[in-house]
Amino acid sequence: MELKTTEYQAFSHQIITWYKENPRELPWRGTLDPYKIWLSEIILQQTRVAQGLPYYYAFVETYPTVKDLALATEEEVLRLWQGLGYYSRARNLHACAKSIWFEMNGEFPKTYDELLKLKGVGSYTASAIASFAYGEVKAVVDGNVFRVLARYFGIETDIASSKAKKEFESLANQIIPPDQPGEFNQAMMDFGARLCTPKNPGCEFCPLNKSCFALTHTMVSDLPLKINKVKIRERHFHYYVIKCGEKSVWKRRTAGDIWEGLFDFPQIETLADQTSQSLHIPLKNPERIHAHPKKYRHILSHQRLNAVFSEVEINEENLDKLEEWCENEGFMLVAEDKIEYLAKPKLIVNFLNDQGI
Ligand code: ADE
Repeated sequence: MELKTTEYQAFSHQIITWYKENPRELPWRGTLDPYKIWLSEIILQQTRVAQGLPYYYAFVETYPTVKDLALATEEEVLRLWQGLGYYSRARNLHACAKSIWFEMNGEFPKTYDELLKLKGVGSYTASAIASFAYGEVKAVVDGNVFRVLARYFGIETDIASSKAKKEFESLANQIIPPDQPGEFNQAMMDFGARLCTPKNPGCEFCPLNKSCFALTHTMVSDLPLKINKVKIRERHFHYYVIKCGEKSVWKRRTAGDIWEGLFDFPQIETLADQTSQSLHIPLKNPERIHAHPKKYRHILSHQRLNAVFSEVEINEENLDKLEEWCENEGFMLVAEDKIEYLAKPKLIVNFLNDQGI
């Protein structure tokens, strides 16, 4: 995804401003000591901040420097780690401290590439340490960052797929401001953990809510997309919005397909994105047929829907015939002021909203 400079500058500026106004006082934030930052990042792998905090305090107090950790025994380190789980983290921590102290003259690696060579340090942790301690321009990318970027920029890549990490890393590294990489990374972590949360995100308080793709397309709960190897069915709907005066034709969806019991319009489904078929409306000379140019996309857990809408205006002289046709087809004629009472799929609501209904 290629973005205009102004687009990502506006995004990162607002994220950082939000972060500065909503700071979390965390003990590893006031330091540039790479050892303490590393310690915090290893503790916070697979661990929530609240759970990790007491461990961070205990480690910093017991082992204030990399030398102290290097000179401890593995048993002591594991004992202090007790209760935090994923014990390979503690073993790697200790092994790294020993190699930094005994093999690297006690000097902590200073670049992303060097940090990446440490056991237990992957791209996320290396980016965090490099940006926080040394100001290196490397974006962190984890579940929080996937979520914020997928929603804001409307990225529909399956975050469980192999290409997702690369794609999101490339985007995050385009966006990260070169003069504030650490602030940006902290801001993304906090923004994802506290505002742009998986469930019940605080969209109404979000400084980006006017320009967020997911929010403006009512897709917040659909993004990021995570498909657990479930095959997604791509479907193409061609809807016909048949109007006669103040009334329009609706269809109640039946069992055996999505949206059972909800109301939408008469529809044709095709295998691909083509319109060679059309709905047979057995009325002479519809006054006007107008195809709305906008394509609507909607993501369900196992299906991706693509919908287009054509509006058909029927002369009011033909109302009787239209009623007869509706009865035969199981459709309903609904007056405009009653539409709001019908239970409708979100895709249909989105279309109606665009029409000002
Ligand atoms: N999760 C992982 N790293 C973190 C950090 N530095 N601050 C807050 N949460 C985090």
